Amino acid sequence: MNWKNTIINNLQWSDAITNREGKERVAKEIAAKVKDGDVIGIGSGSTVYIAALAVAERIKKEKLNIQAIPASMELSMTCTQLGIPQTTLWEKTPDWTFDGADEVDPQSCLIKGRGGAMFKEKLLIANSKEVYIIVDESKFVDRLGSKFPVPVEVFPNALLYVEEQLKALGAKEVILRSAKGKDGPSFTENGNFVLDAWFDHISFNMEKDIKTITGVIESGLFMGYSVNILSI
Ligand code: 5RP
Repeated sequence: MNWKNTIINNLQWSDAITNREGKERVAKEIAAKVKDGDVIGIGSGSTVYIAALAVAERIKKEKLNIQAIPASMELSMTCTQLGIPQTTLWEKTPDWTFDGADEVDPQSCLIKGRGGAMFKEKLLIANSKEVYIIVDESKFVDRLGSKFPVPVEVFPNALLYVEEQLKALGAKEVILRSAKGKDGPSFTENGNFVLDAWFDHISFNMEKDIKTITGVIESGLFMGYSVNILSI
């Protein structure tokens, strides 16, 4: 028996979508890459949401046999709504992945994690043969960390230890991310806290340095990954 499923069927992107036209244009490029039989990693964020709509349209029109591995619950519910079959990293590895980013530097190093999905996003990117990062011009920076802090996913009990260690690595400010729709801290896709750390300088080793702190699950730094940047 099927649910009436009004919640998922009526689901819309949870926030305002900036530059929708530009995102729709690149979404068509992403949809054009879909091949029958592909397993596709789907990141998170509004740009990814728009691209997922275009991918679903192509799947439906051409009756393509596709499986998706989404990085967030929101995109997983979107896949359910759009009729895109889903699988997991236990069963499949993505042929390719598309995602967004918060900052991109001239070496294509990234900051991600505004949506709190950076751990699963990194898993998808690390597992994918090909990765497309879709960004508009506002995301390009000369120096990582100039507009966005580095989000660090932290096991809740390790909060204060990790704060101290981030400061020892040079963070000038470390803020516990607050939720918008609830009181208190924001939780990641995996039920952990996020510390947003502001640095004046982010060295290439910083991703590894942060990762070695006990209590850190993952950071939103993506240094030296092989990604294709698609500009809106
Ligand atoms: C979420 C992310 C997003 O990809 C990033 O925040 C970009 O989002 P948007 O496309 O809404 O600008 O990393 O964790």
